Amino acid sequence: MSHKILFIDDEINSLKTISAILKKHNYTVITAQTVEEGIVQLRKHKPNCILLDYRLPGMDGIEMLRWLKQENITLPVIMLTAYGTIEKAVEAMKLGAFHYLVKPVDPDLLLETIREAILKHETFSYQPNISHKFPEIIAKSQAMKEIFYIIDMVADTSSNVLITGESGTGKELVARAIHRLSKRKDRSFIVVDCTTIPENLLESELFGYEKGAFTGATDKKIGLLELANGGTVFFDEIGELPISLQKKFLRFLQEKEIQRLGSINKIKVDVRVIAATNRDLEKAVKEGTFREDLYWRLNVVRIHLPPLRERKEDIPLLVQHFVQKFAQENNRPIPTLEPEVMEVLINYEWPGNVRELIHVVERAVILSTSGVISFKHLPKRLLGQKGEKEILPTDTFNLLEMEKTLILKALNETGWNQTKAAQLLGISRKQLRTKMKNHGLLPVSSIKDEEEDEEEAS
Ligand SMILES: Nc1ncnc2c1ncn2[C@@H]1O[C@H](COP(=O)(O)OP(=O)(O)OP(=O)(O)O)[C@@H](O)[C@H]1O
Ligand SMILES: [Mg+2]
Repeated sequence: MSHKILFIDDEINSLKTISAILKKHNYTVITAQTVEEGIVQLRKHKPNCILLDYRLPGMDGIEMLRWLKQENITLPVIMLTAYGTIEKAVEAMKLGAFHYLVKPVDPDLLLETIREAILKHETFSYQPNISHKFPEIIAKSQAMKEIFYIIDMVADTSSNVLITGESGTGKELVARAIHRLSKRKDRSFIVVDCTTIPENLLESELFGYEKGAFTGATDKKIGLLELANGGTVFFDEIGELPISLQKKFLRFLQEKEIQRLGSINKIKVDVRVIAATNRDLEKAVKEGTFREDLYWRLNVVRIHLPPLRERKEDIPLLVQHFVQKFAQENNRPIPTLEPEVMEVLINYEWPGNVRELIHVVERAVILSTSGVISFKHLPKRLLGQKGEKEILPTDTFNLLEMEKTLILKALNETGWNQTKAAQLLGISRKQLRTKMKNHGLLPVSSIKDEEEDEEEAS
């Protein structure tokens, strides 16, 4: 049975051309020229998806979104407009639109978006428990369960995925899960961290170059995108991709072809792109530091990881999991938690999210030798009213102590994001890590973890 699409637009030309494309791809199209007429058709035909023009005579697209919301109708809506402005798009998305496309619409992008919208909607209507598919992601909250569905649904497609969320919420973990559940799982998963590769090297790192392409190119080099052929490339901190490279990157996403620097040959590459950011990309678009067209290309499937403080149900499960893990790793019996300790852990705001929780639990397991974890094994910032006051030494002039305090302050302020903390302190990330190591602020396991990460990224 073909899916039904309700298409509301007042421009006859647009109605005709887009309907023709949809019909060619086996969709049943119901059209309307006003929202009012669209609502009548909606009740009569029960479509699977709505394509909605933004500017309409009478009620406009935004008003229709409000109406749908009011009526509790959860159909996926894709907004279309001739006047692409990010403000309108954000408003539409906030009102629950699935996606926002600028006219003239690229037919491939439109079809891809419709497919995702319908798939997502159908999957949500029927939700068996699929947590067992994600043994590495510890979670039981409704928000995370919905994320499991999205991962499960998109893993096997080739759609680009944009993962957003604060630092330490598990963006990379989710990206790896998508790769693991895809047909590409036996091919490579390459991490490109846009913050650690210097801007002038990024282009040649990504696209590669021919011998003699520039002074110093003594041999040819295969770029990361070509190396990843058949696999997945994870662009971490995509918001930091220099504007000078964004156009070229967009072209790559559209054509799925690369050209090594200094070469005229185009090479087809089949890679799945997953991008992540903890920055507000919509804001970056508004400010002109991120291309809008690239944003919409990447944003076909969006996974937003809510901060841990908005899914507190996950905290006890995470704590138990990591208590057990670190006890086993350290050959200790599994300690129990005093009930008040769990209460503190649940009530804490977790600016560094799951990453911070893991650090706190590891520290507590190591410090507690009696088999019970109590208040004294928790860092002061979890107990005090104002963490900041507590860690500022009032009577020390010891330089090393002061340094440690400042580092902790910077880490706390940035949710334990080392890149940002280093920026705040005016030192390199590497210098920061060395200092953290000297002050005993890096758990051994994380040093190992991150070194592996860095190897993969390089
Ligand atoms: N739900 C979870 N279950 C188990 N481990 C988790 C979960 N969420 C995050 N983690 C762990 O927390 C750490 C941080 O996660 P990850 O690196 O994926 O975060 P991120 O969102 O990419 O952070 P950043 O923006 O700082 O790069 C990792 O060690 C990851 O394995
Ligand atoms: Mg990350």
